[in-house]
Order: sequence, then C-alpha cells, then structure tokens
Amino acid sequence: MAASGPEEIPAFARDHVASVLLSAEEIQAAIARIGAGISHDYVGRDPVLVAVLKGSAPLIADLLRAIDIPVSVDFIAISSYGPSARNSGVVRLLKDLDQPIEGRHVLVIEDIIDTGLTLHYILRTLRLRRPATLEVGTLFNKPARRLVNIPLRYVGFDLPDRFVVGYGLDYHERYRNLPFLCVLKPEVYGG
Ligand code: PRP
Repeated sequence: MAASGPEEIPAFARDHVASVLLSAEEIQAAIARIGAGISHDYVGRDPVLVAVLKGSAPLIADLLRAIDIPVSVDFIAISSYGPSARNSGVVRLLKDLDQPIEGRHVLVIEDIIDTGLTLHYILRTLRLRRPATLEVGTLFNKPARRLVNIPLRYVGFDLPDRFVVGYGLDYHERYRNLPFLCVLKPEVYGG
C-alpha cells in the first residue's frame, strides 16, 4: 500500500507522524462501500449499530450518513488495562449499551481489529443477550497480528503491521482528529 493522497501532514502532527498511508478520499470511499453493503443486507431488519469507543467515533459518524435504511446506534466503551494486558485479553466494560438488544440485528462497528481479543470479549458479552444476529464491521484490519479468529462481515482495509494513527486512532490520545490514516515514525514508539 503506497503513500497516497494530496494530504499534507499538519504542523501539529509532524513530530510523530511519518507519512500518509490512506487518504481521506480512500477512507470515505471505503465507508461509502460499507454503508451501501449494510443498506442492502439489512433492509427491513431495523439493525442496531454498536460502536466501540473511542476510536470508532469518526467512523460511526460518517458510516451512519452512508446508510440509507432505518438504523439505530448505541455505544460501548472498553478498557484494556494498557497494551501488555490487552494481549492477555483482560478487558473491562466502561460503558454499556443504553438499550437491550435481545432479538435485534446487531452489527458491531470497530475502527481497527488487531489481536481480536477486545472484539472476542465484546462478542461474548453481547451474545449472552440473545440478539437475532451478531456481526462485525471494521474499517481497518491487521490480520498479521490476529490471536483469535473472528469472522468479519465488512472490512474497509487490510493494513500492514505498522503503528497507525488518525481517523480515530491515537498515539497517547493524540491524532484521532487527522482525517486520514498515517504511519507513526518508528523512532517514536521504538519500532
Ligand atoms: C482499539 C480498537 C479496538 C482494539 C483492537 O481500541 O478500537 O477496540 O484496540 O485491538 P485488539 O484487536 O488487539 O483487541 P483501544 O483499546 O486502543 O481504545 P480506543 O478506541 O479508546 O483508542
């Protein structure tokens, strides 16, 4: 995947960000494609999209507007107890859904799936509530790092195993506000 797009990395990000991996235009095109797929596949099913905070905030905002059937949205927030604990799969539910999902067609929306451990926990938790269907859409996917195999209904992009920021993804809570996806400088994270 080559660096692409006319985007210039803004001054506030230049200390840490090396290059643009996916342009805003490429990201929006993928979201339009996923939105069209959801609109087609879930017509007449009144789906509920469950966005996993915080990284999926820009995605859910854009994805909702790319869907042209009736749809609900709800949010959950997960804590992974930091990066090393994440690999143990120890996660904690910080914010639960507002509404019951029993009998509903549920589509979990993630910004990125890495090891799959977070999603594995989320799906296990939601499945106990007996939704009619439970599927997953993610904008970014890092298959090389997967520890748990999880079927994905919608995928925007398969990414190389690089530290990426932007479009919701952070480095120490920064750079979520970049409208495109960037690669961090290796010297920043010791890569
Ligand atoms: C990211 C992402 C997924 C998870 C994926 O969230 O949104 O939830 O990591 O990693 P995994 O597949 O290895 O479990 P993060 O914990 O960084 O929280 P954030 O969305 O609030 O930044």
